[in-house]
Amino acid sequence: MSRPLAVICLAAGMGTRTKVTMPKVLLPLCGHTLVGAALAAVAELEPERVVVVLHNQRERVQATLERDHADTFDSLTFVDQGAPQGTGHAVRAGMEPLRDFDGDVVVIYGDCPLMTAGTLADLRALRGDAACSALTAFPEDPTGLGRILRDDAGDFVGIREQKDCTPEEADIEEVNCGFYCFDAAKLRPALASLKPNNAQGEYYLTDVVADFVEQGETLPTLEAEDLAEVQGVNSLVELAIVRAVMQERILLEHLTNGVLIVDPAATWIDADVEIGRDTVILPGSVIGAGCKIGEGCEVGPFAHLRGGTVMADGAAVGNYVEAKKAHLGPGAKAKHLTYLGDAAVGADANIGCGTITANYDGVNKHRTVIGDRAFIGSGTVLCAPATVGADAMTAAGSIVKPGTDIQAGALWLGVPARYLKQRELPSEKGEQDT
Ligand code: UD1
Ligand code: CA
Repeated sequence: MSRPLAVICLAAGMGTRTKVTMPKVLLPLCGHTLVGAALAAVAELEPERVVVVLHNQRERVQATLERDHADTFDSLTFVDQGAPQGTGHAVRAGMEPLRDFDGDVVVIYGDCPLMTAGTLADLRALRGDAACSALTAFPEDPTGLGRILRDDAGDFVGIREQKDCTPEEADIEEVNCGFYCFDAAKLRPALASLKPNNAQGEYYLTDVVADFVEQGETLPTLEAEDLAEVQGVNSLVELAIVRAVMQERILLEHLTNGVLIVDPAATWIDADVEIGRDTVILPGSVIGAGCKIGEGCEVGPFAHLRGGTVMADGAAVGNYVEAKKAHLGPGAKAKHLTYLGDAAVGADANIGCGTITANYDGVNKHRTVIGDRAFIGSGTVLCAPATVGADAMTAAGSIVKPGTDIQAGALWLGVPARYLKQRELPSEKGEQDT
């Protein structure tokens, strides 16, 4: 598509129906925020400009989006709508930083996280030279939504909010989903002429449709194929519904890519997780956004991989293992009851049952570095910062004090752990690791 694209994301609403104090658009959703998920979908369209319209708890929402999406878009701008006076008022605010923009303006909602780039691309393509294209749907229950008005020829001529409908209009089953693609040049004057002449005394974005039609425009509509895509979140119940759909999409993608998720109904994987083929994910596992898992790995049952954890090919984390910002080298194994926080584990190292990297001293977090082929005996506590050299070993129950540097090949043991001797390596004894 040759026309430049700008996206305006409306997120100024109060969100009072969630009954929680945090801004609705920051509610968590599979490792994203609600609004972050909505923006992640449009990122695939590579928009030239993205404008997020805020007001309620603006600073907090903006700070979160800047943290999470600084690298996602070439240009991410925030505007304060002021006291929200309707969707037309919000888009007018969103157009301010787009004063000189020429091209497609796609409007999305910050509380509709399941919309896909594919549907928005279709909506854009459909617009052609018309002033606007709009997404419509036939939901089972249209209560509260704007109704799509059509003339005798079936042409789209307006949108009537439920509160302004005649009884006949209220019977219309086709509704407005709130997603549009506009021609920026035609949108500007239409927004300028909006008037709050309606039951709610708001500036309705939807009124631009009748304005365009009066000017002789014929406006195309696209019927949403998947009603989930237009599901908004107004309550925590709707958040749970949307989360289930998003979780299913994520699991399906990994299954399709050759990740053996033994029981998808008992596996929780966030968005933005990479998993290589032939990796097996056993039930009860929770994998957070940003984790990268290689090929032929094993995870779980009941493993918790938090953000920033990386597993190289063939690494394994098993029962009741938690990892946070941990890097496991190829073939490294931590199979039972272990915490690996801020730790680097070398290739083919073996982390015994019950090992703890004590990374937090009450003030700061510290790193633990474990070398290739090291063998950490069961029940070892490694008080960070600590280093264990390649081929080194700790005996079961060792407590390694902070600042310890265990040399390559050494065997340490005790409380606190001390050097005993150089370790006899399994290969020197001609034994195979089992
Ligand atoms: C709007 C549409 C309606 C459509 C429905 C689909 C209008 C007038 N009506 O309904 O036809 O069926 O969406 O969900 O456009 N927002 C702001 N600032 C405002 C008002 C709203 O940022 O001043 C944001 C909200 O945070 C929300 C979105 O815009 O994300 C939609 O607002 P909401 O009040 O839920 O929609 P309605 O106006 O009821
Ligand atoms: Ca409203």
